[in-house]
Amino acid sequence: MADVQYVHGYSAREAGRLAGQANTLSGMLHHDTVYPPGSLVLECGCGTGAQTVFLASRNPGAKIVSVDISTASLEQAHARIDAAGHQNVEFQTADLFNLPFGDEHFDHVFLCFVLEHVAVPAAALRAIKRVVRRGGTITVVEGDHGSWYCYPQTPESSRAVQCLVDLQTRLGGDALIGRRLYPLLAEAGFSSVRVSPRMVYMDNSQPDLVEGFSRNTFIAMVEGIHDQAVALGLIDQRTWEKGIADLYRATESDGTFCYTFFKGMALR
Ligand SMILES: C[S@@+](CC[C@H](N)C(=O)[O-])C[C@H]1O[C@@H](n2cnc3c(N)ncnc32)[C@H](O)[C@@H]1O
Repeated sequence: MADVQYVHGYSAREAGRLAGQANTLSGMLHHDTVYPPGSLVLECGCGTGAQTVFLASRNPGAKIVSVDISTASLEQAHARIDAAGHQNVEFQTADLFNLPFGDEHFDHVFLCFVLEHVAVPAAALRAIKRVVRRGGTITVVEGDHGSWYCYPQTPESSRAVQCLVDLQTRLGGDALIGRRLYPLLAEAGFSSVRVSPRMVYMDNSQPDLVEGFSRNTFIAMVEGIHDQAVALGLIDQRTWEKGIADLYRATESDGTFCYTFFKGMALR
C-alpha cells in the first residue's frame, strides 16, 4: 500500500526522530497504558514501531495487532520488534478508515501521533470504534504545538514553529489537535472520556531531556519541514535560519523549553 503524504514524511531521519521521541517520553506517556493478560489490542498507525515496543514490553500477556498504511514503515516496525525479542505483536498493512476486521473484534485500541495527520479525525475515530467491543477502551496520544514555549523566545523562533502548524494545516492535518481530544472522542460516541495533559518541561538540570526532547525531537521536527516551508513562501531563508538558531539557543544552559502532550482514554 502506498505511503500517505504527511508533514514529517518517511525518511530515515524521521524514523530516528520518532524512536528518540518514544524513548525519551515513554514513561510519561505510556506508564498507564496497561492491558489485562489475554487482551487483543489494535495499534493504529504504528509507523516504524517506535511506540509498539513499549506497548509490547508493558503488556507481555496481551496480543497486539499493529497496522499502518505504509508497508515500508511496517517492515521497519517488524525488524524493531524482532530485535527487541517480543513475540506478542503481529503487523498488517491497513487503512484505518477501512480496517479489515469484523465489528467489535478487539478488546482495546491504541493510537499515538496519528489523528493529527488525518483530514477528518472524527471519521477516523468512528471507523476505529467499529472494531472495538462494547466495554473495551480507546487510548489516543497527541501533541499540540500551540502548547510549546521556550526561553528565550523570539519572533523568529515562534515563526519557524508556526510554519509547521501552517504546513500541517495545508496538508489536511491539525498540529493543534491535542486540545480537541475530549470533544472528538465524545462526538465519536465514546463514553467516560478522560483527557490528561502530560507536560514536559526542560532546563539545564535535565540535560538528557534537553537533548532527547528539545533538540532531537522538537527542533528536529521543525527542521524537517525547511524545504517545504521555504518553497511555499511560509518563511524566508534568513528568518528560518535565525528561528532555528534561536530554538537551539533556548537549549543552552540558561534556556528552558516546555511542551504538553494530551492522552485521551475512553470506553466504547
Ligand atoms: C507520526 S507517525 C506516528 C507513528 C507511530 N504511532 C509513532 O508514534 O511513532 C503517523 C503514522 O500514521 C500513519 N497513517 C496516516 N494515515 C493513516 C491511515 N489512513 N491508515 C493507517 N495509518 C495511517 C502514517 O503512515 C504514519 O506511520
